Amino acid sequence: MAIVNYQDCAIEIGADQSLLDALLDAGKDIPHGCRAGACQSCLVQVTEGEAPENAQSGLKETQKQQGYILACQCHPQQDIRIETDASTNSYRALVNSKHLESRDVLRLRLDGDFDYRPGQFVNLIRDDGLSRSYSLASVPELDPELEFHIRLHPDGQFSGWAGNELQTGEELEIQGPFGDCFYSVSDKVKPLLLAGIGTGLAPLYGIVRDALQQGHMGPIHLVTGARTSANLYLLKELKSLSSRYPQFSYTPVVLEAPEAVNEPIEGLTVGDLNQVIKDQFSDLSGYAVYLCGSEQRVNSLRRQAFLCGASMKEIFYDLFVPAVSTESA
Ligand SMILES: Cc1cc2nc3c(=O)[nH]c(=O)nc-3n(C[C@H](O)[C@H](O)[C@H](O)COP(=O)(O)OP(=O)(O)OC[C@H]3O[C@@H](n4cnc5c(N)ncnc54)[C@H](O)[C@@H]3O)c2cc1C
Ligand code: FES
Repeated sequence: MAIVNYQDCAIEIGADQSLLDALLDAGKDIPHGCRAGACQSCLVQVTEGEAPENAQSGLKETQKQQGYILACQCHPQQDIRIETDASTNSYRALVNSKHLESRDVLRLRLDGDFDYRPGQFVNLIRDDGLSRSYSLASVPELDPELEFHIRLHPDGQFSGWAGNELQTGEELEIQGPFGDCFYSVSDKVKPLLLAGIGTGLAPLYGIVRDALQQGHMGPIHLVTGARTSANLYLLKELKSLSSRYPQFSYTPVVLEAPEAVNEPIEGLTVGDLNQVIKDQFSDLSGYAVYLCGSEQRVNSLRRQAFLCGASMKEIFYDLFVPAVSTESA
């Protein structure tokens, strides 16, 4: 049985336990979200002993060399000493407003003042410790509040609670920010393609407005997919952005054609998002590509973007991996 030395404690790691679970069971307050190696919020540094390679998947080379690992993916066979990432910050933030943006998307605005880039994500933590990752749709230079778009899952522990019970004026804890899916293009004429499914629009909305406010001049194409037109949201905001910035265009894509069209949606395309990308962006060489949404859809869009000529180094993405539903999650 391996021992992890953390602060002044020596903690035993059970045979079936991850390092993260052992630390949490010992009462240590370790940031965590997805427990699946995706959100990187459980980053810790091994300062003595060997950093297990399989707990470093997805980390940057520089982080690997410094012994960083993802605690949720780590099952050490030997004793190690770790330190938590001192750069992980935690805040209390007031809920300023919440309203339904479509039938299953909650737009939540929090009072918050900390450094982040639009498109990064944070962990929102309820008072009982239930924690979920959500992407930042706001732009610090433009928006005084932090904005999140939360898809309401019928059985969702966090999203259900946020939709039904969370009240304005209450506080939430925020940990982060995390992730590197944000606008950092030095070439201001580079074409950008941003594609997402459902609330994958949240980080993309932040990234688009960030690029525009930073003076990006190259074409910026946003394509979002939903099952039906009732699942689309932010249509007015995106229309207004495209009238204001000629370099920005928006294409909403739905799988099912709308039955009765009261108010036609400009640019609405019926079909599969991958096929639309394939048809409309057959040559993505020279593009920077941003993809956000569910793991399966984003991975398939990554393949599609690569097949259309995008360089893997120029594809930035966030996978909305569901958290494992446990009481301590
Ligand atoms: C980096 C990152 C960024 C994220 N950003 C956002 C964001 O901006 N907006 C947003 O809405 N979500 C986002 N998520 C997903 C979010 O963290 C939660 O997983 C999601 O809100 C469900 O949490 P819950 O507690 O409501 O549901 P849970 O109680 O965790 O799950 C309830 C049920 O719903 C299922 N479920 C959960 N998520 C999904 C899913 N995506 N697709 C299908 N079934 C699912 C579960 O398997 C389970 O059966 C992000 C996730 C990650 C890792
Ligand atoms: S990567 Fe470990 S909790 Fe998300």
